[in-house]
Amino acid sequence: MSTPIIVGNWKMNGLSADSADRAKQIVDSLATVPAAGVEVVVCPPFTQLALLGPLLKDTPVAMGAQDCHKDDKGAHTGDIAPSMLTDLGTTHVILGHSERRRDHEEVDETVREKTVSAMKAGLTPIVCIGETEDQRQSGQTEDTLGWQIKGSLPDGFAGIVAYEPVWAIGTGLAATIEDITNTVAFIRAELVRQFGDAGKSLRILYGGSVDANNAAGILAIPDVAGALVGGASLKPDAFLTIIRAVPAR
Ligand code: PGA
Repeated sequence: MSTPIIVGNWKMNGLSADSADRAKQIVDSLATVPAAGVEVVVCPPFTQLALLGPLLKDTPVAMGAQDCHKDDKGAHTGDIAPSMLTDLGTTHVILGHSERRRDHEEVDETVREKTVSAMKAGLTPIVCIGETEDQRQSGQTEDTLGWQIKGSLPDGFAGIVAYEPVWAIGTGLAATIEDITNTVAFIRAELVRQFGDAGKSLRILYGGSVDANNAAGILAIPDVAGALVGGASLKPDAFLTIIRAVPAR
């Protein structure tokens, strides 16, 4: 079985002191009562990576970023290269989040190029896919996910896939256990179709309104390897409850 992983996506929230305080609370709790066998990652805003890197070093909490550029250097004003992330102790990077696809018009090809360069830099990419409400209503969920998997994941993909239905993000309305189970089975089949045997062991996370109350049910779904958590990851108590809801496997 693959190692379960809980990822906190802090998005564009909090100033340095808030993030340092939140990180310390999570680290302290896990130092006191370890969540054995669960990988924990927090993804602060870029501007706080340099602060949190030393704080999280040699703790059970790894650090991720929320995006990176496809090139490793050059004339790209305002962008961040993968090696700039590893330089600060970052080990994971979220790519193709629906908010970036929406706000920055990222398409599957952009996500694929970023994924290649993240892998080259030694980062673990967490690639997000998910259908919108319109796509769901018009019965296009599987088509959408199929195209996103084909388009966003490069040959030799060595990372994590996060299934995040767009309509479930930040709405308090998580997908049902039945829907997640079925959709994750579809994603698994597509991964195996694209990557053969390697597709069998890629981890699939669920994201979209995961909270302290629904986490145990979602994390108990056999092929769900963990969760990508937005809003609830900003509250240490809720985030820790989610981490501790991971069933022993
Ligand atoms: P949410 O966000 O948990 O606030 O719904 C999840 C995400 O966007 O990764």
